[in-house]
Amino acid sequence: MYVEMTRPAHVFDTACSLEQDVPTGFVLGVDLLHIFPLEGAVFLPHSDVTDPSTQKKIQEALPKGKADVILSDMAPNASGIRDIDHQHMIALCLSLVDLARCVLVPGGTLLCKLWDGLESRRLQKRLTQDFTEVRTLKPQASRKESSEMYYLAKSYRPQCFKNDAASA
Ligand SMILES: C[S@@+](CC[C@H](N)C(=O)[O-])C[C@H]1O[C@@H](n2cnc3c(N)ncnc32)[C@H](O)[C@@H]1O
Repeated sequence: MYVEMTRPAHVFDTACSLEQDVPTGFVLGVDLLHIFPLEGAVFLPHSDVTDPSTQKKIQEALPKGKADVILSDMAPNASGIRDIDHQHMIALCLSLVDLARCVLVPGGTLLCKLWDGLESRRLQKRLTQDFTEVRTLKPQASRKESSEMYYLAKSYRPQCFKNDAASA
């Protein structure tokens, strides 16, 4: 997966698969598993992205608490029961949409992997509420028979939430 960035960016990568030659300003990686150190990147290993305490650490680790790009290659341990695995995957992706509301800059990008299924439309709808453009991608490297696909959501539009309105 290649993400083109026109300027040094703050990238938040969940389920780390970072390449050293990507021109980034700051990279933060998070995974449930151990992550081997990589020069120039900051990692939160043994961390669950859906856990509020991890989300707080992510915000604290990011410069000014903000990211330009969120990339997710996260996947739950597959049980082999397609519908259940799909639902777990969607839950992971939805937690990223919530996280984006805290850390993503206006105009930012979110790329997330999912296993396609009944709930995909619900995720797509949520993304469409918050982003100007949402595309479905099936990279060539992804096997045709696999349900794996990606949503690429661009141009994040912060919404005015109830709490914001109350404090205005
Ligand atoms: C398909 S692997 C991708 C790993 C890596 N991108 C690679 O190519 O080697 C999925 C990863 O998602 C991570 N993961 C699953 N649920 C997670 C969660 N809630 N928080 C953080 N990472 C999670 C797993 O630990 C696993 O390393």
